[in-house]
Amino acid sequence: MIYHKESTTSTNDDAREGKYTHLDAIWAERQSCGRGQRGHVWLSNEGENLTFSVVLTPDFLPIDHQFLLSEIVALALVDTMSEYDIECRIKWTNDIYVGDSKLAGILIEHSLSGERIARTIVGIGLNVNQLIFPTDLPNPTSMATVTGCKFDRRAILERLLANLEMLYNQLRSGEDTTIQNRYIATMYRLNTTGLYALPSGEHFEATIRGVRSSGHLRLEHSDGTLHEYAFKEVEFVLRRP
Ligand code: BTN
Repeated sequence: MIYHKESTTSTNDDAREGKYTHLDAIWAERQSCGRGQRGHVWLSNEGENLTFSVVLTPDFLPIDHQFLLSEIVALALVDTMSEYDIECRIKWTNDIYVGDSKLAGILIEHSLSGERIARTIVGIGLNVNQLIFPTDLPNPTSMATVTGCKFDRRAILERLLANLEMLYNQLRSGEDTTIQNRYIATMYRLNTTGLYALPSGEHFEATIRGVRSSGHLRLEHSDGTLHEYAFKEVEFVLRRP
């Protein structure tokens, strides 16, 4: 079920409330403390985009398989955008890109119960009808920017939830390899040489060769050696438009 509200701090906070259950979505027009990955804020013009969180209860999934949840969420966004003729790629770990621009971001938070995942909150910010963005955002885009059309946001959300449910059911049926292979095939910069940065600030060229089921990025360095990086151990360096 979709719960629509005018304003909140962050829909990821709302989604913690026990009254929301599996596949419920909490959608807010305005967030006073919208959160992004790596401690960033998420900015979105009121009434133009989709900022929402979905509750999942994947109690069948061991903690060390949690990257599969990132994968199905990213793929659900890719599938939904393709229904609108927008071709996207997934920038590891789970940014949704059109070309070199960011269309959507995902912030996933888990609560654990022993060795299992009790509740997963999937926060999604999808730029839909916004055409003008703050100049300090590196590379934003929106569905309207890409296509020149305006979109019905609720219809997009409904399709996205249907696609997420389908992928979730695949995950529950144990189709891990299919999901993993689809994610890899859809990766931004797959088999392409690009620039990366280490937390030390050092830059290097490398080629993405896929991702491990643990979520580690596999990068081939220019000397031919393969290296694996956890989230926060490496960053993409983006070309400026
Ligand atoms: C990112 O790319 O940095 C992730 C952005 C996630 C933003 C969404 S908007 C809805 C939900 N509520 C939040 O506070 N964050 C997520």
